[in-house]
Order: sequence, then C-alpha cells, then structure tokens
Amino acid sequence: MKNDLMIRAARGEAVERTPVWMMRQAGRYLPEYRAVRGQTEFLTLCKTPELAVEVSLQPYRILGVDAVIMFSDILIPVEAMGQVVTLTEKIGPKLPEPIRTRAQVDRLIVPDPIETTPFVMEILRILRRELDGAVPLIGFAGAPWTLAAYMVEGGGSKNYAEIKRMMFAEPKTLHALLDKIADTVILYLNAQIEAGAQIVQLFDSWAGELSPRDYAEFALPYQQKILAALNRDAVPAILFINGCGTFLEQMATSGADVLSIDWRIDLRDARRRIGDRLGIQGNLDPCVLLSTPELIASKARELIEAGGGRRHILNLGHGILPMTPVENARAFIEAGKGLR
Ligand code: CP3
Repeated sequence: MKNDLMIRAARGEAVERTPVWMMRQAGRYLPEYRAVRGQTEFLTLCKTPELAVEVSLQPYRILGVDAVIMFSDILIPVEAMGQVVTLTEKIGPKLPEPIRTRAQVDRLIVPDPIETTPFVMEILRILRRELDGAVPLIGFAGAPWTLAAYMVEGGGSKNYAEIKRMMFAEPKTLHALLDKIADTVILYLNAQIEAGAQIVQLFDSWAGELSPRDYAEFALPYQQKILAALNRDAVPAILFINGCGTFLEQMATSGADVLSIDWRIDLRDARRRIGDRLGIQGNLDPCVLLSTPELIASKARELIEAGGGRRHILNLGHGILPMTPVENARAFIEAGKGLR
C-alpha cells in the first residue's frame, strides 16, 4: 500500500506523520456530491455501486484525505432486518413502523448480508480495485444501541424517550432487540472485511445519551460482542461515540483498537485516562470548520501536537456539517498533512 499511515497509526506502529480523514467526508458540503445526489434519491445512491463508489472517492480526489470510507448509511442493515426506512432531505431518517413490542422484535430477521445487501460488498470490491492500494478503505456499521434508537424512536430523537422507556420498563425486550442487531452487525462487518474493508468503524453515535451504568448494560456488552466476533487479525477496529467523556474508561474495554472521541474531552486527558494501549481518533469540533482556514490550521496543528504523533488519527469529533465551506475542509486536511 502506498499510504498505509492510518493502518499503522491504528496498530500503534511508527508513522512519519499523523494521518487525517473526516467522518461523513462524502456528503452535502461537496458540490460534486450534490451534483450526483441531485439525480438520485439517497437510498438509491447507497444501492447503486457505480454512484456510491464515485462519491466515496470524491473526498480523496478533492481533498487528499488519508483514507476512503465507503459511501453507505448505518440504516442499510436495518432495512435488511425487515423494518421500513425512508431518508428524506432535511427531514432525515424515518421509520414509519417503530419497534415497540416484543412481538415486533421477534419478527425482525438476522439477514444474510450477501443476499440482502450485495451492493455494499460490491462497493467495497470496486473501491479496493480503483484505489489500488493508494490509501486504506474503511468499512462501517452502526452499533446496536444507536441502531435500536432509530428503530424504536422511528427516526432521530431529542431525548430518546421511547427507547429509554423500553430500557427502563421492558429491559428484556430491548436486550432481545440489541442482541439481534449485534448478530446482524457481526455478519455484516465480516462480509465487509471479506469484500476488502481494511479498517472497520463502529458508529455508536448516540451511546453518549446513556448514564455510565446504562452504557455498561445496554451498549458496551454489544460493542464487545461484535468486536470479539469479527475476523479481523489484520483489520483494526475503531469505535466512535459522540459524548464518550463520561465513560471513556469503559469504552476502552470494548475491544476496539482505536477510540474515536468527540470534542467535549481534551485529547491529552483522554490519552491519560486510557493509557498507551489504544489509539485515539479525533477530535476537532466540526463547527471549527465554519471559521477561517487560518484558525482551522492552527487548531489542527494543536491536536497533532496533543496526539504526540503516536496512535493518533486526526479527525473531527463528529461528522462534518453540510454548510462547511470546501476551502475550510481543505485547510483541515492540508494542515493535518503538514502542508499549511
Ligand atoms: O462518512 C462518510 O462519508 C460515509 C457515508 C456515511 C453516511 N452516513 C452518509 C449519509 C456514514 C458513515 C454515515 C453514518 C451515519 N448515518 C451515522 C453515524 C455517524 C454520525 O454522524 O453520527 C448516523 C447517525 C446516520 C444516520 C443518518 N443518515 C442521519 C441522521 C442522516 C440525516 C442527517 C443528514 O446528515 O442528512 C442520514 C443521511 C445521510 N447519510 C446523508 C449522507 C451523505 C445525507 C443524505 C442526503 O444526501 O440527503
């Protein structure tokens, strides 16, 4: 591989410089993405390999990121489990028949990823061929708590009242759902690895909504189950949680090689708390990218310094926002690469 900085950083090996990419780097802030998206519905885009490959590669071609993440969405396997999912511009994901009962949980299936989502594996295979070792290819999945939140709430949520009601009032029903999702994600990520993913990232975006105790019961065990069941000798795993500062030490026991942390926690504090055994990814506030190229470059350099040049992957603390100017995203990547 020509540029394997991210894989080496994830494994704790020496690197010449800190690798850099951005969560949600393929997306609406890029005019080239909007041009493709203008012709196609979001879910159709996810299911059309040629187009998904094209938008996956855009941030690599336009910004020079150190890794490519396949274009897809965490809700793709949810649809395969048997729940109706729609994704509408500005409204976001909607699941018109939210899961509220044990009978509904029992009706969901653990889908064969090759049969139900062959396009995902096709996207990865084509990307590996097109990249030809230029930079590593990242596969991903949502983690059980976060996927269950969409499935039970019926979409995005402000206070997670429905899934938390189930968590407190009917914990067995929620555990049955979480376990079914975990089994689904294991098959799904193993199929991605088989198809060519060289790094996998598990997105537990909304686990930061949990108390440390509830995290220990309803999120961590399923992250652990998945990460222990992946065929990933050579494939590092990254775990992202937005708002992980309250239970970082627990997160460090997930089995992930790299913890992807949000901006609410200082990078040096995070390193002190988890020790030298794991990598850290992050953690610029995505809103910094709404400021000026100069400020962005200086904040990126500060983070690289704080990361100490070892076991650190420079990234945002959550996904890039659609209103981010491309020039500012470029400033972040170039400063990350020491070009500014
Ligand atoms: O990172 C990448 O560039 C790869 C693509 C990617 C998307 N979604 C594309 C997308 C990835 C890794 C995701 C993961 C994802 N999806 C997460 C976890 C990461 C996070 O941000 O916490 C979550 C929670 C989702 C669910 C989801 N999908 C939401 C909440 C939305 C609507 C909000 C939004 O950003 O529009 C989506 C839709 C979505 N997924 C878009 C993209 C580019 C926008 C759809 C469009 O083009 O209209």
